[in-house]
Amino acid sequence: MNEAFERKGPVRRLIKRMFIDPLANYLPAGWLRGLLAFGKSELAAANWADPGGWRSMVISYDDSPTQVADRILVGSGVMAMALRNRFRLVRRLLRDIINAGPPPVQVLCLGAGPGRITLDAMASASEESRATLVDLNPEAFDYGRQLAEQHGLSDRVRFCEGDVRCGLGKMLTEPPHVVKMIGLCEYLTDEQVVEIAAAAGAVMPAGAPIIFNNITRRHGNDRFLRRVFGLHMNHRSVSALTRLMAQAGFGDFDVHPEPLGVYNVIVGYRRGA
Ligand SMILES: C[S@@+](CC[C@H](N)C(=O)[O-])C[C@H]1O[C@@H](n2cnc3c(N)ncnc32)[C@H](O)[C@@H]1O
Repeated sequence: MNEAFERKGPVRRLIKRMFIDPLANYLPAGWLRGLLAFGKSELAAANWADPGGWRSMVISYDDSPTQVADRILVGSGVMAMALRNRFRLVRRLLRDIINAGPPPVQVLCLGAGPGRITLDAMASASEESRATLVDLNPEAFDYGRQLAEQHGLSDRVRFCEGDVRCGLGKMLTEPPHVVKMIGLCEYLTDEQVVEIAAAAGAVMPAGAPIIFNNITRRHGNDRFLRRVFGLHMNHRSVSALTRLMAQAGFGDFDVHPEPLGVYNVIVGYRRGA
C-alpha cells in the first residue's frame, strides 16, 4: 500500500506556473475539449458525463490510465496528485480512528461513491469496523461491492442509496463512531454544507469525529476545470469551511494539509447538546 505523498519540485512548479497553466486556462475551450476527445481521455469523458463524480475520482486514484492524454492529466496533473494525497491522508486518519476503537467501530460515509478510501482504511486497520456507505447515485455500488469482496469486507459494509440530507437515521443500525464526508463540500453551497453536516450531527454521539475537506485555488487550474471539464467547485479557506461546520454543531478542528496545498483534510468533533 503506497502511503507516500506526491510532491512537485521547484522547477516543475515554475514550468507549470509559467507555461502549462496559462495554456490550459486560456487556450480556447473547444480546442482543448476536442484534443481530449481525440485522445480518448477517460478522465475527460467521466467529467463530461458527471462533473466531479465518483468515476473521475477512481480514475485519478488509480494512476494507471491507458490513454496518453490521461497519463499526462492523471500522472502529473496537480489536481490528480492532490486527490491521491488526500486519499492517503484520509485513509491514515480514518485507520487511526478505527484503531482507537472501541471495536467494532461504526463508520458512516456520506457521498461515498464506491467507498474506496473507507474500504482501504478498514482493510488496513488492526481493529474491527463496519461501514454504512451512502450515495445518491447507486451506480458506484457494484464496483464498491467488488472492492469490498476483494478486501474480505463484504459482510461488514452496507451500501445505501439516498440523499444524506434526509433519513440518515433510518439507514443506520447503530450510531456512527466516525463520519467521513470527503469530496463533497467543494460541490456544495454554504447552505448545503450546513444542512448535510447538521443531518450527520443529528445521528452522531457528542464527541464523535467527522472528517471533511476544503479545496483551495492552489491547483491553478480553476478556469480550465470550469471551461473544459464543466467542474464548478466552491473554493473555501479552512476558516470559512470550519465556520460552516461550527454552525452545524462541530468544533475543536484539527487541520491536515496535503503537501501540494490544494486540499486540507479537517477533523472536527460533534459538540455536546
Ligand atoms: C466527488 S464524489 C466523492 C466520492 C468519494 N467520497 C471520494 O472521495 O472518492 C461525490 C459523491 O457525492 C455524492 N453526493 C452528492 N450529493 C449527495 C447527497 N446529497 N446525498 C448523497 N450523496 C451525494 C455524489 O453522487 C458523488 O458520488
